[in-house]
Amino acid sequence: MSEAQERAFDELAPHYLLDVPRDIAWTSVHPEARMDPAAEYGRRAPLIVEIGSGQGHAIVSAASARPDDDFLAVEVFRAGLARTMLDADKAGVRNLRLIEANAPEVLSTYLPEGGAAEVWIFFSDPWHKKRHTKRRLIRPGFGDAAARALADGGLLRLATDWEDYALQMREVLDAEPLFERAFEGEWAARFDGRVMTAFERKGIAKGREIRDLVYRRKHRA
Ligand SMILES: C[S@@+](CC[C@H](N)C(=O)[O-])C[C@H]1O[C@@H](n2cnc3c(N)ncnc32)[C@H](O)[C@@H]1O
Repeated sequence: MSEAQERAFDELAPHYLLDVPRDIAWTSVHPEARMDPAAEYGRRAPLIVEIGSGQGHAIVSAASARPDDDFLAVEVFRAGLARTMLDADKAGVRNLRLIEANAPEVLSTYLPEGGAAEVWIFFSDPWHKKRHTKRRLIRPGFGDAAARALADGGLLRLATDWEDYALQMREVLDAEPLFERAFEGEWAARFDGRVMTAFERKGIAKGREIRDLVYRRKHRA
């Protein structure tokens, strides 16, 4: 990390970065640890969680534009977390927290059950080589973790520039009994709250279609 990024961890992390109890690995979350959003944000407000927030462009922009909502960035890439804190600080954003952890663990245990109003996953690593596709985040079973974290009627928003992964996301989520499509036609319209990131720009430059999807968490029985 650069000097500025190191400084972000020293000076800004106490405000932005949650101190997550770990299990074995550094980016793990202790299975018994639970986040208390009211304590972390000092209020109760709809919570939007972005998985794999990268440099933080989408979430810093959203947090800045929507001061009445709370935002949580989940990322394992330290330099990205540092950039997110630096940009959030520059923009005076106070309704944002970050977690340096493996996202499925955050969804399946750390967040309070039904605690998220929305979960966003934009340009998730496509793992495009055939032998690597099993590493993709959106694969059978992912729906259980996302459904646990989402409130009834909460939204799971996704975008990708990788057609084969877009098809996999749709196939996996169409088959999830706890979700229903919240779009008509083949793909969802571009989500207004999603700003252009380097990953999207690169995909477009390579002539790829950008696919948006949005699924609604069904009501609990
Ligand atoms: C292709 S980048 C996209 C970043 C950002 N969403 C954007 O559109 O610019 C995917 C990001 O997901 C993060 N990521 C991948 N697997 C993850 C996991 N299991 N938990 C948390 N973050 C993860 C990577 O570190 C990377 O920053």
